[in-house]
Amino acid sequence: MGGGPAGMLLSHLLWRAEIDNVVVEQRSRDYVEARIRAGVIEQGTSDLLRSLGLGTRMDREGFVHGGVTISNARSPFRVDFMALVNRAVMVYGQTEIQKDLYDAGVGAGRPIVFEAENVQLHGLTEGNPSISYVRHGETASIDADYLAGCDGFHGVSRHAVPHDVRQEFERLYPFGWMGVLSETPPVSHELIYARHPRGFALCSMRNPMLSRYYIQCTADTDAASWTDDQFWDELRRRIPEEAATSLVTGPSIEKSVTPLRSYVAEPMQWGNLFLAGDAAHIVPPTGAKGLNLAFSDVYYLTEALAERYSTGSTTALDGYGATALRRVWKAVRFSWWMTAMLHTFDDAGEFEHRMQETELDYLAGSEAAQTAMAENYTGLPF
Ligand code: FAD
Ligand code: PHB
Repeated sequence: MGGGPAGMLLSHLLWRAEIDNVVVEQRSRDYVEARIRAGVIEQGTSDLLRSLGLGTRMDREGFVHGGVTISNARSPFRVDFMALVNRAVMVYGQTEIQKDLYDAGVGAGRPIVFEAENVQLHGLTEGNPSISYVRHGETASIDADYLAGCDGFHGVSRHAVPHDVRQEFERLYPFGWMGVLSETPPVSHELIYARHPRGFALCSMRNPMLSRYYIQCTADTDAASWTDDQFWDELRRRIPEEAATSLVTGPSIEKSVTPLRSYVAEPMQWGNLFLAGDAAHIVPPTGAKGLNLAFSDVYYLTEALAERYSTGSTTALDGYGATALRRVWKAVRFSWWMTAMLHTFDDAGEFEHRMQETELDYLAGSEAAQTAMAENYTGLPF
């Protein structure tokens, strides 16, 4: 269930392992491809895409970044990932990864059902799992050995795990990010993560003529109520002065607000259902981890299913959730740490301000602290 990045990569990995599968997606291909989300992927994620033959366009059009700038009250310092851990990240939009995955799947004639409504899961613990859905008014169903819930945070599959079994761990932040995409040259050749008393800001990009910027806003902000000029003025106030002066602005081609949330549902499996990606966990985007976790989940799931079909052993499948969750929780921790260090919290007192200042001062001056950040940002192994 779900033809987002998790579902489509899982499908691709399964076909390579010669395991038949069908992807059932609620929306149209155009709709999914147009959703603007992630911009940065870990080195392990880009290595995986490359090893699957999905890296040609990424290597041509993406950008390898060997570090980032962190700014505190407009004063910047750089964390040099290459020097610290000899690893980098790739700037390549989720929209493009999604297109590459669909091109590969559709191009190879693999079954993908788009515009499936009223998707329902059946027989999860009875040994005869299936899903049913309605497409263009007609009901259809698919029998399977296993179901993979890759239907994102708002999907249905997580809810198939009974209430008395499912444990939820959640932190909802009292703010969101307003994001703007504009056809302007990026203000800096690397990302800038900025803490400022007026709120967090992030300068990111997609290519030399497409920039992505975010500013912290209240959770209930209506993006349409902000003019582009208001957005640019606010961004300029929060980023280093040199960046603010050289910032090239233009009309926004997309403007939206994302709420910030940390969420983990355990277990990630129930009967013959296995959850992967945002269906099982959400991280605030500050650590750039969500898409990467979706990919490590489906990597582990494929390994486990391949073992099941080649040897008959379900040991790895039974341990799927525990294996995936070890990596998930580390990314939840890193994203929570980045979020806590860089955002303005309305209820923070003077003590909390000093802790934030000290955290950033320590990070700016300690190679050990920067190494820990670099190791996590470029991605823990999977
Ligand atoms: P989704 O992308 O949500 O895909 C789920 C799919 O399931 C969708 O296509 C949906 O239509 C479909 N679906 C839903 N319900 C059903 C149903 N009932 N039946 C069938 N299909 C259904 N991550 C990073 O790693 N790096 C970043 O830089 C980054 N930046 C981000 C910036 C923003 C502003 C946001 C919002 C997110 C960012 N992320 C980032 C997170 C990343 O976008 C997500 O973690 C990623 O999309 C998760 O993929 P997924 O396939 O698990 O879920
Ligand atoms: C993005 O470019 O959309 C982006 C980059 C880094 C993040 C989050 C989002 O941490």
